[in-house]
Amino acid sequence: MRGGTSTANERSNVSDPIPFIDLQAQRKRLGEPLARAIAEAVEGGQWILGPQVAALEKQLAAFGGVKHAIACANGTDALLLILRAWGVGPGDAVFVPSFTFAATAEVVALAGAAPVFVDVLGDTFNMDPASLESAVAMIKREGRLKAKAVIPVDLFGQPADYRKLEPIVRREKLLMLCDAAQGFGATLDGKRTGSIGDAASTSFFPAKPLGCYGDGGACFTNDDGLAEIVLSLRNHGQGTDRYENVRIGLNSRLDTIQAAVLIEKLMIFPDEIDTRERIARRYDAAFAKSDRIVVPRVIEGAQSVWAQYTIQVQDRAKLQTDLKDAGIPTAIYYPIPLGRQRAYAHYPTAPTPVSDALSKNVVSLPMHPYLDETTQDRIIGAVLKSLG
Ligand SMILES: Cc1ncc(COP(=O)(O)O)c(C=O)c1O
Repeated sequence: MRGGTSTANERSNVSDPIPFIDLQAQRKRLGEPLARAIAEAVEGGQWILGPQVAALEKQLAAFGGVKHAIACANGTDALLLILRAWGVGPGDAVFVPSFTFAATAEVVALAGAAPVFVDVLGDTFNMDPASLESAVAMIKREGRLKAKAVIPVDLFGQPADYRKLEPIVRREKLLMLCDAAQGFGATLDGKRTGSIGDAASTSFFPAKPLGCYGDGGACFTNDDGLAEIVLSLRNHGQGTDRYENVRIGLNSRLDTIQAAVLIEKLMIFPDEIDTRERIARRYDAAFAKSDRIVVPRVIEGAQSVWAQYTIQVQDRAKLQTDLKDAGIPTAIYYPIPLGRQRAYAHYPTAPTPVSDALSKNVVSLPMHPYLDETTQDRIIGAVLKSLG
């Protein structure tokens, strides 16, 4: 989800290119306090895991309604740290959606375990509970791997259907790690992602709903024992002292400047989530008029943070070309289901017909909290015109 940026002024002309994500508009809103926060982080001289990191961790835990938030270097490491802390390794099967960003399965392989691909639902893009059940049954039947954990992803910003996934996870005695890299801040039945599952992770990559100005990530859990191990693992497996190593860890510390940025951004995050929701609803209402567009469905009781607004259309190539000609960027998340990628083709997979179909017809439109109505109307008009 790498997005270009431009300033609000650059949008004034109707034929000007529209940014996919406008991070400079957010930067303007954050103004002088953000610049001051960065300067203070620099002058403070504790550039890695400084006091701002500890403050951020407290604020993230409070925001997420979870006991422990542990900042780390990126969202990929956040997943890996938790798998490693659980002791996931060779001989273990970890169930992941086939329709997601590579990191979700990559960390399983890096831990030495086997990712097992599960299909997703065609209207929400999230893990299909029925496909999870059949994948678990397949692994048990084959008897080669031990079914150990599942990583549902809150794809494009909305929580996976944990009401249906959790009973399967409990029945099968699996561990559940929720990949909220795209969905941190979303809620399901009033509970925020981060507090759902045995543990959760997120990414602060700049284009994420809550992003910093570089790489960053965090792990979340209510489990004191797990939190203690993750804290140790993120700093080379340290013990009570920095130069005592009690386990094999990694360098996955967060820079203090990034924490300072995130503290400022967290203050406006709830308001940004509301604005994203309003923008998504405007897209929904406009596209309801067309029978050629399938809009994303959000499950009842959930609020998405709309990392992406992703529609499904039959002639995606034409739509992308027409929009490009009109100065409107689009993106395809994801053009190849993960289980079909060369690097992952040798791992077990459930049948994934829905992921296969989605990869051919999904297209994401510009979505960010600074998308003004005039610009959004230009996008809507161009989409409707192209699809006829
Ligand atoms: C679903 C998902 N998981 C994990 C990650 C990894 O996050 P990071 O890029 O911070 O390592 C991403 C980032 O794009 C993601 O979208």
